[in-house]
Amino acid sequence: MNIQFKFQIDDFSQTFTSPYLLVIYPISPMMVGLPARGKTYIAQKVCRYLQWVCVSAKVFNVGNYRRKLHGAHQTHTFFDSNNPQGESARKEAAALALKDMIRWFEEESGTVAIFDATNTTRERRAFVLEECEKHNIQTMFIESVCQDEKMILQNIMDVKLSSPDYKNVDPESAAEDFRARISHYEEVYETINEKDYTYIKLINVGSQVVINHIKGYLQSRIVYYLMNLHILPRSIFFSRHGESMFNLMGKVGGDSDLSPRGRQYAQELPKVIAQNLGDHELTVWTSTMKRTIQTAELLPYPKLQWKALDELDAGVCDGMTYEEIEVQYPEDYANRDDDKFNYRYRGGESYRDVVFRLEPVIMELERQTNILIVCHQAVLRCMYAYFHNLPQDELPYIKIPLHTVIKLTPKAYGCEEVRYKVDIDAVDTHRPRNPKKQSLANGPGNGLAEHPRP
Ligand code: ATP
Ligand code: F6P
Repeated sequence: MNIQFKFQIDDFSQTFTSPYLLVIYPISPMMVGLPARGKTYIAQKVCRYLQWVCVSAKVFNVGNYRRKLHGAHQTHTFFDSNNPQGESARKEAAALALKDMIRWFEEESGTVAIFDATNTTRERRAFVLEECEKHNIQTMFIESVCQDEKMILQNIMDVKLSSPDYKNVDPESAAEDFRARISHYEEVYETINEKDYTYIKLINVGSQVVINHIKGYLQSRIVYYLMNLHILPRSIFFSRHGESMFNLMGKVGGDSDLSPRGRQYAQELPKVIAQNLGDHELTVWTSTMKRTIQTAELLPYPKLQWKALDELDAGVCDGMTYEEIEVQYPEDYANRDDDKFNYRYRGGESYRDVVFRLEPVIMELERQTNILIVCHQAVLRCMYAYFHNLPQDELPYIKIPLHTVIKLTPKAYGCEEVRYKVDIDAVDTHRPRNPKKQSLANGPGNGLAEHPRP
């Protein structure tokens, strides 16, 4: 069976301006590497990135299948290649995960399935490749090589001891068992160098990268994304601009100045950041709009303005209140409530458009260390959804209040969050989901109207 999906090129509007259709074949990035080399971390990040740019993606973790089929509490001998029962049990788990993955491509029109397993031998890689080829699924191997003993030990401490494999096992015995498990894999490990295979090999968290036979749009995006990843500890701070004059008047968009309370917030912001940053370095990114530049004015750090961080363009509704929009454009007002992520203002943008224009910002953000982003409600919702892996339907309703600093600290499989509310009043610009419209949207014919860009 030949699976092939077509996407409107508009889905990739940041990269392509042509009106042609982009044909994307299903791809399966296959992880390769010894245990505790960050394979699951990488698999989940790639999945989150792809889902955020509206590509249907899913991770198939063979460890989960192994636990389901054979129980969680297996000691290291299960992973010994000289143990034939363990060998066949592990192959069984891999084959079942692969079967489910192929079913997902065929029945749910998936586009990218990340196969999260060790795939550490040529034989295993040949097996998964052959299965995929039978179903016209492109494969792309992603190997993580790490020789830094300290980092491996840290990874074991950070994530492996809390894995279901070691529930109720004392940490010392668990660490010892896990190291023995790694040794079994090391005995048979063959790093990828099959010359006809498509692969990217990340050595010591990308300090060296080898790429082979990368082809096509999605594979190149994945490679570029992987080359930007790092795992150094850092914080990402988000703040909306201080309250603006338009916020006070309930108007959307525009390029107004800060209100007096907004200016007060700009004065308090450097203290909040300094208290939470210590003496680490920081770079501040703002949009090109007056209200974010004024908010960041007193921050004593290097600053950069990004046009891509400007607020969602409300098109013909720019400068109007929600009440005025409801009167002048009742159909649009209703359509926006029906599907806020996809609704595009006449002559303006949708949340989906904003996600696409933010893609280069996210790429750059992945490369950076400590960053403070001072920008706008809709734009911060899009970035927040990326870091917390929130679905499109929830994204336009995320609460990002004025006069609040959000600190995100990336961790092994997600982000820790702390919010600091600065004690200066501000209007509330959050519009909750309309419950009446929501129930209509769930019914037949929710009549989404999209307006082309001018
Ligand atoms: P296993 O085979 O046991 O499932 P794994 O290779 O999937 O192990 P992870 O569970 O992903 O390992 O390990 C997560 C840890 O790896 C995190 O602490 C993360 O910071 C770290 N990490 C992420 N990327 C890398 C990398 N490229 N090299 C080494 N460690 C990494
Ligand atoms: O109201 C402030 C604001 O930043 C507007 O400029 C923008 O149109 C709006 O928020 C985005 O929020 P929503 O998508 O909920 O209308």
